[in-house]
Amino acid sequence: MTNGRQAIVIKPLRKAVLPVAGLGTRFLPATKAMSKEMLPVVDRPLIQYAVDEARAAGIEQFCMITGRGKTELVEYFDIAYELEATLRERGKQEGLDALRDTSMQPGSIVSVRQQEPMGLGHAIWCARSFIGEDPFAILLPDDIILSKTPCLKQLADAYHLTGGNVVAVSEVPPEQTNRYGILRVGSDDGHMVEVTGLVEKPAPEDAPSNLSIIGRYVLTADVMPFLAKLERGAGNEVQLTDAMAKMIGRVPFHGIRYEGKRFDCGDKVGFLEAQIAFALEREDLGPAVRAFLKPYCECL
Ligand code: UTP
Repeated sequence: MTNGRQAIVIKPLRKAVLPVAGLGTRFLPATKAMSKEMLPVVDRPLIQYAVDEARAAGIEQFCMITGRGKTELVEYFDIAYELEATLRERGKQEGLDALRDTSMQPGSIVSVRQQEPMGLGHAIWCARSFIGEDPFAILLPDDIILSKTPCLKQLADAYHLTGGNVVAVSEVPPEQTNRYGILRVGSDDGHMVEVTGLVEKPAPEDAPSNLSIIGRYVLTADVMPFLAKLERGAGNEVQLTDAMAKMIGRVPFHGIRYEGKRFDCGDKVGFLEAQIAFALEREDLGPAVRAFLKPYCECL
């Protein structure tokens, strides 16, 4: 397929990287002895939402970037023989059903160690052997998205049309640009925007827009040589945004205003909001949650 600038090959998107090696300092002390990505929203850990969303977008191979004290994230996707046998013996079909989504095709998940949390860009670079020359998705498990079509599927559909890099974007309050990777925007059809620049955490007065990248990306393997330089950026970390910025003009680069609501579960308020929103969506819990919330709403 061509995009007018150069002939580009659009390879199928089958791989995803799940970076889970961060320290989760905003959730201490909870994250002292457990991973942030294992915190549950209602009854499933954050990592499960990311994996389910990826599978719904056609992802078949996963690479988790883990670190010290993160082994439970890998074990979570193992078969729990004893637990399953006990549930079967006791006729607990509901429990067995709940475990179904935690199983993975043999050989479809690998883990790679990031010995030191040197930033998201460094975490992604740790997946270079897994990626090879293939395009790949990145899902940051602390962002979860309530939507009709899974967010990564929306990006994958766009990627299969345009090739190159595709990132999920959403508008942020102008005074909060210093918390996010912010886009400079070219053409914009209201759904897909052309990315002409990227700045990590700009001060509001320097921000080129208020469109921010959220934790869903489709990238080509061309990002790896830029990450390999291991240049430190904002917060003295190796920033993925900085490497992506260097790809602008070299590969097609688009942002998608995805349909859905994103919850930043790396933040306490976002995490609490996600609990309520996801519980309200559930047929088995929605009515009870609505009922117990009522008195709180009335006294606000
Ligand atoms: P965050 O910056 O939100 O996570 O990174 P954090 O550093 O764990 O959290 P705080 O700020 O200290 O509370 C987004 C994702 O990238 C991963 C994190 O695990 C998280 O899923 N990450 C971040 C890495 O894998 N390695 C890193 O060096 C940094």
